[in-house]
Amino acid sequence: MKLAGKFALVTGASRGIGKACALKLAELGADVAVNYSSSKVKAEEVVSLIREMGRQAVAIKADISKQEEAEALIEETIKSLGGLDILVNNAGVARDSLLIRMKEEDWTKVLDTNLSSVFFTTKSASKYMMKKRRGRIINISSVVGVSGNAGQANYAASKAGIIGFSKSVAKELAPRNILVNVIAPGFIETDMTDALTEQQKEGILSVVPLKKYGKPDDVANLAVFLASEESKYLTGQVINVDGGMNM
Ligand SMILES: NC(=O)c1ccc[n+]([C@@H]2O[C@H](COP(=O)([O-])OP(=O)(O)OC[C@H]3O[C@@H](n4cnc5c(N)ncnc54)[C@H](OP(=O)(O)O)[C@@H]3O)[C@@H](O)[C@H]2O)c1
Repeated sequence: MKLAGKFALVTGASRGIGKACALKLAELGADVAVNYSSSKVKAEEVVSLIREMGRQAVAIKADISKQEEAEALIEETIKSLGGLDILVNNAGVARDSLLIRMKEEDWTKVLDTNLSSVFFTTKSASKYMMKKRRGRIINISSVVGVSGNAGQANYAASKAGIIGFSKSVAKELAPRNILVNVIAPGFIETDMTDALTEQQKEGILSVVPLKKYGKPDDVANLAVFLASEESKYLTGQVINVDGGMNM
């Protein structure tokens, strides 16, 4: 198996894209820490599915928007699994509204959860990975971080921030054999996109050349490739998984 003997942490792995990444990493042989903030039962279900595959798994509760909890998550992962080779920064939230109606708390919530969290976990994990002289960091951004989107100034800013952060860190960590890449999904069917109105969903579909929504596995398949030895010469890249929305 491609990822046998590797230890992975996926943030926000109780549902959606994070869950798909955790399961796919385990399918390929990795042991996986499943982070969640409130969905304990769902996270434990993911852990059970991974253990049924014969891999080690652990559910770890941590609100990654808080520095102490994000740092403790990295420590707990290394302690429970025995190491950390692959970090998938996936957890994220949206609090959409037009700029003139956007409350400061919605700005802060989205920036803290989607962007500051990536700084906290990446900084902590890279200290460990630098000593090992290897590591893979995969950050989940969004097509709107590249293109912007009306009603999502906070979300787009957080996702654009992930791109600038990842490119900078990719340059810093390359000499230590730590590869950092970004996946920018388009419309993927999860709880997050379920919250959109039918009108919004149709609007999105009309600009997707492949004329269908993506599935969590479409993102997870790329994440495991970026985590694997097959991807040795790829760092600092932003790869869209969006049915052709952004070309
Ligand atoms: N779905 C899409 O179309 C799409 C498109 C582009 C980018 N993305 C990005 O892909 C990522 C996953 O999206 P999704 O659609 O799978 O979302 P989702 O179904 O809403 O799941 C979000 C996950 O993030 C976790 N989470 C939220 N806040 C957290 C916090 N403070 N600390 C730790 N975990 C937290 C949730 O944990 P709990 O269950 O415990 O709350 C859950 O596991 C996000 O970064 C999102 O922005 C999604």
